Amino acid sequence: MTRGLPGPALEALRGSDVDVWVSPADRALAAEELHAAIRGADAVVTMLHDRVDDAFFTAAGGQLRVVANVAVGVDNVDLAAARRHGVMVTNTPGVLTDATADLAIALLLAVTRRLGEGERRIRSGEPWAWSIDFMLGRGLRGKTLGIVGYGAIGQATAARARAFGMEVVYTRRGQGDDRAQVGLDELLERSHAVSLHCPLTPETRHLIGADALRRMRDDAFLVNTARGPVVDEAALAEALGDGVIAGAALDVFEHEPEVHPGLVGLDNAVLVPHLGSATVETRTAMAELAAANVIAVLAGSAPLTRVT
Ligand code: DGY
Repeated sequence: MTRGLPGPALEALRGSDVDVWVSPADRALAAEELHAAIRGADAVVTMLHDRVDDAFFTAAGGQLRVVANVAVGVDNVDLAAARRHGVMVTNTPGVLTDATADLAIALLLAVTRRLGEGERRIRSGEPWAWSIDFMLGRGLRGKTLGIVGYGAIGQATAARARAFGMEVVYTRRGQGDDRAQVGLDELLERSHAVSLHCPLTPETRHLIGADALRRMRDDAFLVNTARGPVVDEAALAEALGDGVIAGAALDVFEHEPEVHPGLVGLDNAVLVPHLGSATVETRTAMAELAAANVIAVLAGSAPLTRVT
C-alpha cells in the first residue's frame, strides 16, 4: 500500500491471506521510492497521486496481478501499459457518488452566494454592516445548470440541482433521445452554471479553455469537482479577472497541489483542496472496496469493480 488506509480496509487485508506492507511515509512517494517499494508485489493499492505507468509495472515485476486505485478516476494509470503488462486495474466507483455530488452543490452555493468572500471579510476584521445591497449573490431557482459528463456523479448532481429548482441540461458520450442532452457549445451558451463531471482523458484535457469560457454567459459560474486539467487554469484566471464569467469554484487543480497564482487573489474564485470524496464514510468505503478487490483477485476471484 503506497499510503495508509482507514482501519477497516487495513484490517480486512491483514485478516486475509496476504502479507501487507504499508508505506510509513504519510505523503505521496517520489517515483524512485514508489518503484523500490512495489518491487516483487502481487498487488499494489495506489492513490490518485501515484503515477502508474510502464516504469511502475516494470519496477513491480512480472508477478504483479492487480493495481487497486483508491479513486473512481484512473487518469493516474496508463491503462494501455497495464494491459501490455497483463495487470488488472480496479477503481472505486459508486461509493463516492453522493459525497462528490454534495460537494459540487456546496461549491455552487458557495460561489453564487459569495461564502468564501464573506468568510474572508469577517476574518480580516474589516468593518461590515447589513444593508439592502450588501454582498448580493445569485439565486439558483429557475436557472439552468449544465452538466458536462452525465455518469453517476453528474446524475446525482442533477438530482440535487433540480431540488433547488434548477433546470438541467447535460452532455454525455453517445446520443440519447432526452431533450436535456445537448451539445457542449449549446450547454456553455445556455447555462447559468456549468458543473464538470467528465473523466480526464486526452479528449477532455483543457476542454474548458479560453474559447469555451468565452462561449459561457458573463453571469455564469463554473464548478469543477472532476479533474483539474479539464480546465485551462491560466485561461480561467484571466477570464475571471476580466469578467468573462461571473465566478468559479474549484475542488481540483491542473498541477495539484499547486494552484495557479492568478486564481488565489480573486474574490470570485472559491478554492478547496480536492475534498470531493472527503467524508469519513466515503473514504472508509473507498478503502474497503479497494481492499476487497485486492483480496478477491489474489484469491483468484473477480474483483467488484474492474477497469481493465
Ligand atoms: C476520485 O475518486 O477520483 C476522487 O477524485 C478521489 O477523491
